[in-house]
Order: sequence, then C-alpha cells, then structure tokens
Amino acid sequence: MSNKLWGGRFKKKTDKDFEEFSKSIHYDYKLAKYDIMYSLIHVVALEKVGILSSGESLKLVKALGEILKDVKTDKFKPDLRSEDVHTEIQNRVEKKLGKLAYKLHSLRSRNDQIVFDEKWYCLENGLAIGKLIINLIANLFFLAQKNEGQFIVGYTHTQRAQAVSFMVYIMAFNRMFERDDERMERFCNNLFAYIGAGALAGSSISRKNYKEAIKEFFKQDIRAGKIKPLENALDNVSDRDFILEFLSILAITQMHLSRLAEDFILYASKEFDFFQLPEEFCTGSSLMPHKKNPDFLELVRGLTGRIYGNLTSVLTTMKGLPLAYNRDMQLDKEPLFSSTETVKDELKIMAKFVKKIGLKKDSISKALCDESLYATELAEFLVYQGVSFKQAHDLVGKLVQYSEDKKTKIKDIPDRILKSFHKKLDHKSILRIMNPHYAVSSKKSLPQHKMISRRLPKKKTRKNK
Ligand code: ARG
Repeated sequence: MSNKLWGGRFKKKTDKDFEEFSKSIHYDYKLAKYDIMYSLIHVVALEKVGILSSGESLKLVKALGEILKDVKTDKFKPDLRSEDVHTEIQNRVEKKLGKLAYKLHSLRSRNDQIVFDEKWYCLENGLAIGKLIINLIANLFFLAQKNEGQFIVGYTHTQRAQAVSFMVYIMAFNRMFERDDERMERFCNNLFAYIGAGALAGSSISRKNYKEAIKEFFKQDIRAGKIKPLENALDNVSDRDFILEFLSILAITQMHLSRLAEDFILYASKEFDFFQLPEEFCTGSSLMPHKKNPDFLELVRGLTGRIYGNLTSVLTTMKGLPLAYNRDMQLDKEPLFSSTETVKDELKIMAKFVKKIGLKKDSISKALCDESLYATELAEFLVYQGVSFKQAHDLVGKLVQYSEDKKTKIKDIPDRILKSFHKKLDHKSILRIMNPHYAVSSKKSLPQHKMISRRLPKKKTRKNK
C-alpha cells in the first residue's frame, strides 16, 4: 500500500521535484502535539460509532500517547520523507501497530485536522505571549519606579515640547502593551476549535458522540470547553480568519515594540544622550573602536517588515479562494510560525533589556534647562492672570524671541523688561513657573494615584518594589 494517505487512485509516481516542493513536514511538524490530541479524541469517537473495538482504541491511544510523549520531551524528530505532520503521525502509529493503524484515519480529513491544530497553536502561543507581555509591562514599571520623581523632555514632531514625568513616559508604553495583552486575551477567549468537518461536508459521527468523546478525553480539564462540534463544515475547513486576527494582533504588538525600540535608539544617541543602553544587548564596530551600537533595538525595528509582511502574505493568500479547502492554505503556516516565534523572542529579550537600561540624569537635567519647554506653562500662568490665551501665546512667543535675539535666558532678563511684556512677569515668577516640577505638578488632568498597570498581577508589583 502507498505510504501516502491518498495513493490508491494514482498509477504514476509523484514527480520527485513536485513532491519536495509540496511538502510541509519541515515546518508543520511543530503542530504534532495538537494533531495527536485531535487523534486521541477521534479514537474515542470512532469507538463510539463501533468502528473501533475498545481493545483497538486502547492500543491506538497507547501508541498515540507514546508519540505525544516523544513530542513533549523533544525526542520527536520528524522523518522529512513524510508529506506532512498528519502523514508522519499516521506512519508512526503504523510502525507501532501495523494494520490496526489503518483504521485511525476513518471518517476524517486532514483539511479538518489542520484547522484544529492551528487553532490550538494560536491558543497556546496566545496565552504564552500574554504572559511575556505582562512580564515586559512589569519590567517597564520597575524601570519607571526605580526612577520615580524623574522628569524627561517630551516631544512632538521630534521637537522639544513640554517636560513630562518619566513615569508617565514609560507608562505610555505600558498602556500600549496592556491593550496588546487585552487584545490577545479577547482573541483567546473567543477562539474555539471545532471538530467533525470531514473534508468539507461533515462526518457521520454524531455531534452527541463528539461531545462525549471530548468530555471523556479531557475529563475535568477546562480546555474541554475550547473544543466544540462544528457549526458549519465548509466554513470550518476554510476558515483562516483566526490566523489573520492573530497575525494582526502580533503586528500591532510589533509596531509598539518597534516604537519603543526607536525611542531608545534615538534617546541613546549622543545628540539626546538620555539613556545608557545595556552593553549585553549592544555590539561594537569592527573598524571604529569607540562604537557601541544598539543592534538588538535595530533588529526589533527592522523585523517589523517581516511581521507586517507575514500578515499581508496570509491576507493575500486567502483573497479570492473558492470554498472550501484549497492547498494554498498550507502556506499560512510559515508566516504564522515566523510572527509567533519572532514576537515571543523580542518580548523576552526586551523585558530583560528594559530592566538594565540606565538614565543619564545629568544630560536629561541639562536638556530640561531649556526654557522653551516651559513657554506653554508661562502662557497658561498669564491666562490665570486674566490674559486671553491668544494674547498670552503671542506675548510669550515674543519673550522667547527676545531672549533668543539677546542670547540670554528668560530668567536673566531684568524685571524692568519682563514687566514691559506683562506686569505679572518678574524674575521670581519666571523661576517658579519655568521648571519641570511646576510644569508636571500643574497638570491636574492626570491621575494622581500611582500609575500601576491594570494588567500587572498584584504579587509581581510588590516583588518588584
Ligand atoms: N498540509 C495541508 C495544509 O497545511 C493540510 C492537508 C490537506 N491537504 C490536502 N491535500 N487536502 O493545509
């Protein structure tokens, strides 16, 4: 008999080049764990409809269990001669049980198995990514707390704008990552794997039997709730929106990681000189002895191309596919694995990175001495003195211009001249208003309570204190 799952009707051998070209075993072996899980449920269902005796199903369960153990202990080395992961597992069961294994693939199709496998892959990795995001949030929070009371220059259009607290600066990134984590949690909560689609038309195993098989397989395990008899067989074998949703969530997370990386790259440059990057994550130059380059951050920023590309790749593959399963869909796996593995690695390393980043407080203080950062606060001070904002804006603008023309600090302009701009302006009021403490404390719209992350487990916060 053919070593393929479909050889019977073919007289000629598959062209060798085409065979290699069409294989997916070299990447879809990563789904082995989930594929075996589905097979285990399927064996219980087959016994229910009388296709397997209880003795036979016991033997199949045992053989599948042994293969699963190899997968879990990393002993599973796929045979690259197999077409795909489903064939590989079938062959392994055949090796263990001989002809009995031929019954395993009754009443089912790889079209159905592959969706099940991919959904579980997304689910398990979605949960793992959520944990990695929480860890990054915790470490960013640790960085903010370590530098409590610190101010930093805030920018718009990459031009100095207003002073902000470092806590707010870091927590801005934490808010982004919190939303990523929430998005991933919603995705995982809404994701269900359906079984029983057959190739496209359904299977002769009843919904009741499937339900019982799921229950018997999982017993009290809460994961049982994640598998259901299907709602529409055609849809089930051709649904890849969950992969697109997963890749979209990863693309957004990647965009946030890239923005964080870019801020660190920019602010660590001599031109800004706010951050000391941890050496463990930097490299040098083979020519220029002085260099310390932010390679980790640059790779994160650069990988955004790949992560967006993976989403675009699957979107484009899916566009215009007729119902139901088409082999095109096999091509969703490499982008899925690539985005998942890349984002996981980045989150893991970024969490370590942010814990070790240092602040160059002297340079930051020097930058914060730029009086233009407090022009807005000065204008608003005048507004509280009864000046209209338009007038105050114009007046402070002229004052900044005057100080630039005279090459003097506003705080060094004599009272007589300051008062000629407005009677409430003098050296004392300028000193009181034009500093980061006043600038930050005058903002009442920000929450005054400690800005602890919503997503952070309480215990972790305490531990990091
Ligand atoms: N390896 C295929 C995929 O990843 C699943 C198998 C279905 N193949 C088939 N010829 N019906 O989509």
